[in-house]
Amino acid sequence: MSDTASVLAVTVPESKRSVVRRQAEHLPGDDRFALVDKHLKRVHFAQDQLIETLHVAQDVFGSLSDEVLLHVARALRLPPSMVYGVATFYHLFSFEPPGDHSCTVCTGTACFVKGADDIVSGVAKAHGVRAGETTGDGRLTLKTARCLGSCGLAPVVVIDGEVLGHQSPQVAVDRLDAILSADAPQAAGLGSVVVGGGA
Ligand code: FES
Repeated sequence: MSDTASVLAVTVPESKRSVVRRQAEHLPGDDRFALVDKHLKRVHFAQDQLIETLHVAQDVFGSLSDEVLLHVARALRLPPSMVYGVATFYHLFSFEPPGDHSCTVCTGTACFVKGADDIVSGVAKAHGVRAGETTGDGRLTLKTARCLGSCGLAPVVVIDGEVLGHQSPQVAVDRLDAILSADAPQAAGLGSVVVGGGA
């Protein structure tokens, strides 16, 4: 039995297993794991840093998928069941998958003094979504995070797993526009056929 399968069997209620399995899939080269690893190194992989590490992972990924929980468990050499148990005990953690695309703006001190708040407001205004929420069409989740460990690149924005340094509101909005526009023809096609355009 694989690690994922064993965790699902031991720790996850049957009703949630299909959701967790979907979340366990991710694209290769996702450098969000590197950000979590950077934090882990900073705390010397101390097991008593589990909750703090889960916070960092959630900040980076937007939610805690099974794959992320396993990654943390392995890194801290803790039983996956314990990590899942801690994550589910605290209501601060979310397991719901984010929107199709994600934009996480670091609002840690270094990024804050370099205008992170303006980036948050710029993206929020451009896409009609508040920090911590997903757009009504489920296409974009906007989140804020505490220090992502890349202060030298401040202000930092993570878009779809890609860590982008020295951002500005306009650069971040343009980047998101380009990404969302790339999906637009398909979305428009589906909308005209499946959604039917409403009234
Ligand atoms: S404060 Fe943003 S990366 Fe450190």
